[in-house]
Amino acid sequence: MKTPNHYVVKWSDDRKQARVFDKQEGYSLDLTLLKYTSIEFCHAAFNVADILNKGESMYVTGRPLREYDPDIRELEIDPSLLYIDVGAGLGEFIPHVVRCSKGQAKVRPIAIDPVNYELMQRMLVYAGILDVGDQMKEHLKILIDRCEIMLDSTKVQLIKSTLEQSLNSNSHLQGVADVVIDNAGANHYAREDHEHIWKLEKQLLKPNGRLFSEVVKSSGIYRPPN
Ligand SMILES: C[S@@+](CC[C@H](N)C(=O)[O-])C[C@H]1O[C@@H](n2cnc3c(N)ncnc32)[C@H](O)[C@@H]1O
Repeated sequence: MKTPNHYVVKWSDDRKQARVFDKQEGYSLDLTLLKYTSIEFCHAAFNVADILNKGESMYVTGRPLREYDPDIRELEIDPSLLYIDVGAGLGEFIPHVVRCSKGQAKVRPIAIDPVNYELMQRMLVYAGILDVGDQMKEHLKILIDRCEIMLDSTKVQLIKSTLEQSLNSNSHLQGVADVVIDNAGANHYAREDHEHIWKLEKQLLKPNGRLFSEVVKSSGIYRPPN
């Protein structure tokens, strides 16, 4: 595959880190390689330009479920329930719900995130042709598959906007969810008080629905009262 003109690829001197930058869209894919290290470490995340209009860039990570808040990763997925992930990014939660509900899903889970999954998928595919080692290639495949799932409207209802915009423009989202999760998502990047974001997230819930969101601050770890 030829390097598209609008991509810039940079390696660190020790070749343990690589960055693929899309000059047109302002997305950077940062790869930390395990190839030259003895410890098991392999990481890929996007740093995206100011899509929240707050004057800051933002990280889009793809955590495996085992790195989620314990309350979230231990949830037993019930295919008859509607799950919403606010700030889903490339994380495993939504693919996990899809996997657990295979063939029995009554409702498709909803992912709310303003990032461009098509673009991220293209950049991940491109990164896979670089000299990044087999383990990173495997990891990239996992993230490419997650993009595929997010973009498959038969499996996931993807709402490509922020939580705030989604609530303003999609009145049908009010009171629909049985479970809402936010794992280092909207609340991680909120300038406002985390209670304010929880209030918005609770608007998505049915009367008996549950919100799972862990907010880590220097003053402590906070969870919404359910
Ligand atoms: C650090 S990543 C976390 C991704 C994933 N939940 C995980 O645990 O790996 C933060 C994600 O939150 C999204 N995000 C940030 N602010 C948001 C908002 N106000 N509404 C919806 N998504 C938001 C970002 O686009 C990004 O994909």
